[in-house]
Amino acid sequence: MAAVAMSAGMALKSSFCGAAVQQSGATAVAAKPQRVAMFAVRAGGYDEELVKTAKTIASPGRGILAIDESNATCGKRLASIGLENNEVNRQAYRQLLCTTPGLGEYISGAIMFEETLYQSTSDGKLMVDCLKEGGILPGIKVDKGLVPLPGSNDESWCQGLDGLASRTAAYYKQGARFAKWRTVVSIPNGPSDLAITEAAWGLARYAAICQDTGLVPIVEPEVLLDGSHGIDRTLEVAEKVWSKVFYFLAENNVMFEGILLKPSMVTPGAECPERATPEQVAEYTLRMLKRRVPPAVPGIMFLSGGQSEVEATLNLNAMNQSPNPWHVSFSYARALQNSVLKTWKGQPENLEAAKKALLVRAKANSLAQLGKYSAEGEAKEAKEGMFVKGYTY
Ligand code: 13P
Repeated sequence: MAAVAMSAGMALKSSFCGAAVQQSGATAVAAKPQRVAMFAVRAGGYDEELVKTAKTIASPGRGILAIDESNATCGKRLASIGLENNEVNRQAYRQLLCTTPGLGEYISGAIMFEETLYQSTSDGKLMVDCLKEGGILPGIKVDKGLVPLPGSNDESWCQGLDGLASRTAAYYKQGARFAKWRTVVSIPNGPSDLAITEAAWGLARYAAICQDTGLVPIVEPEVLLDGSHGIDRTLEVAEKVWSKVFYFLAENNVMFEGILLKPSMVTPGAECPERATPEQVAEYTLRMLKRRVPPAVPGIMFLSGGQSEVEATLNLNAMNQSPNPWHVSFSYARALQNSVLKTWKGQPENLEAAKKALLVRAKANSLAQLGKYSAEGEAKEAKEGMFVKGYTY
């Protein structure tokens, strides 16, 4: 049995004990209030492993490659280079990403969509095994996507809790060691208290279920870039969101040492005329995190959210200019894949060049994790923003 972890799950409640019972015919004795500690104790069988997995992912100079686009979203990626969205093309693309030699030096984990977790390469090797041999831990997206939230201001909620425990147990058997659940918060649409509460509660239930079945949960309430608000408004919303998320994580006895976070950086809305420098983004984002995230959490793995490849890397670099209480790193999809797709174009003769392009981006972000990145010599295309209004995953 793994070590008992009580830090996140302790609850101290006061209660009345002893002499308060009134017996018939007897004089009532004044009740003496006593404080009794009632501990909701975590004793998960996977606790030690969860801590180890989270630490491995949050190891110096490494971050996560997010390749967990649903089939529909992967179709958008393929369409951008003129490829049809079918299983063979998705396999070819994911194979490129999962078999790039040397990637494990910069990438500690890769998040997959269910199709890829059970998929083999064209020569019959499981993608999961390719990753493991490259020193990369396999992860799995477990949410079932966003749907409208009735009663809200046109906002959404994230589905996927029904049957989650049996799915995560099966994913663990297939080799997954961590998971992702992405829900979103829209600033221009509110966000309403209802939407934030629903997002936070869903993330907390998901996290508890994952830990119970051996997967480190990545907790991702994405505050969308959409909107013309300034950076101060983003800070205000992000603080509110994370305070609710941590409240419910604690209520659900989630062990903080065995989770990873995937926040959005605190930036102005995509349509805000006032732009922020990497130093400002770093200052706001770290301020928000220091106010809301306990140091027990091992890693903060940012999403890129539509920033250009270089912008996402520069912002991460700025956040690593002085020591942080947590490993501050990346879990990028678009900001790691864009140059790769443009280089590959679906042509076998471009395969090696595309793998090199992936290594270039992975190495740049690895340097940014260590605070040692410079954008000098970066290609023009890597500086092009990828924000799409109302983007859905
Ligand atoms: P982006 O880096 O493209 O925002 O994607 C990260 C991700 O996995 C969203 O859930």
